[in-house]
Amino acid sequence: MKILVTGAAGFIGSHLCEELLKDKTHEVIGIDDFIGPTSFSLKFKNLEALLPEKRFTFIKENLLTADLSPLLEGVDIIFHLAAIPGVRSSWGDHFHPYAAHNIQALQRLLEACREHPLQTFVFASTSSVYGEKQGKVSENAALSPLSPYGVTKLTGEKLCHVYQQSFGIPIVILRFFTVYGPRQRPDMAFHRLIKQHLQQKPLTIFGNGQQSRDFTYIGDCVKAIYAVLGKPHLIGETVNIGGAERASVLKVVSLIEDISGKKATLHFSDKIAGEPSKTWADISKAKQLLHYDPATSLKDGLANEFAYLSSLYQGE
Ligand SMILES: NC(=O)c1ccc[n+]([C@@H]2O[C@H](COP(=O)([O-])OP(=O)(O)OC[C@H]3O[C@@H](n4cnc5c(N)ncnc54)[C@H](O)[C@@H]3O)[C@@H](O)[C@H]2O)c1
Repeated sequence: MKILVTGAAGFIGSHLCEELLKDKTHEVIGIDDFIGPTSFSLKFKNLEALLPEKRFTFIKENLLTADLSPLLEGVDIIFHLAAIPGVRSSWGDHFHPYAAHNIQALQRLLEACREHPLQTFVFASTSSVYGEKQGKVSENAALSPLSPYGVTKLTGEKLCHVYQQSFGIPIVILRFFTVYGPRQRPDMAFHRLIKQHLQQKPLTIFGNGQQSRDFTYIGDCVKAIYAVLGKPHLIGETVNIGGAERASVLKVVSLIEDISGKKATLHFSDKIAGEPSKTWADISKAKQLLHYDPATSLKDGLANEFAYLSSLYQGE
């Protein structure tokens, strides 16, 4: 199969490309323009294992300006992961790139898809579309994002629906819940906390640290995305991709202390606007439709991220 992955140099995109290439019958085109919170050098490092691979083609182009039609020639599946992610920086003057890359770029891609028959177009959405909810959240819960980021991703979902309704673009929406593990973006909590700990600095905790998240290990997340392949009955579905465990930020800090064998000092800072106090995914639909079974414990996944970051920041 010929597969296009947008955002291929990103955290999830680079892992997904590697997983796809394990099947020798797949050819993968990765597109990315090195945009967003992660530095060029880290994104380039994400591509290290992919670039020498003969069945992988990397295209450094912006979806806002690229000539998309030739890129879609012969493509069977699109995994659209390109976006500006993150809640914290989506306020104020920073909103413009969120609107451009999360909405306009998607709209350009969907327009280009009208001329190219596809098997599936997978859109990477987020738990941020739900807002604050009590208990486990299933896909049919009311959608009330708390942040401008969440609004752009919800708009992305809506755009996908209208292109499916009017032009038959075969959409599948996956809503990811806080993904972590090696290559996690530097703006995300685990990366930031582990880096501070490695550098023997106080760990910045936004709010009181009691906020909890459904944490999804990257290996589990990528298996769920991969499982969409070859399942035409998924077209039109929206599926939550959550993890094996939920935990508070303070619990995560204690796991980091266990893994490193060192006590951390904490620096409490203001709560972040737009963040819910908890997220909790009902993943019964993913279990049923994708045979999804997230297996990685938080401690094991965190230890893998810790090892990756120890090597990344060695000597700093
Ligand atoms: N990481 C998470 O926990 C998480 C949770 C929920 C949803 N998501 C969604 O998953 C997707 C991937 O997230 P990530 O954490 O890997 O982010 P990331 O920033 O690591 O990857 C996104 C990539 O998209 C690229 N990109 C952005 N706009 C582009 C454009 N116009 N043209 C070309 N490339 C462009 C960026 O350069 C970046 O490499 C995003 O859509 C995000 O909203 C992520």
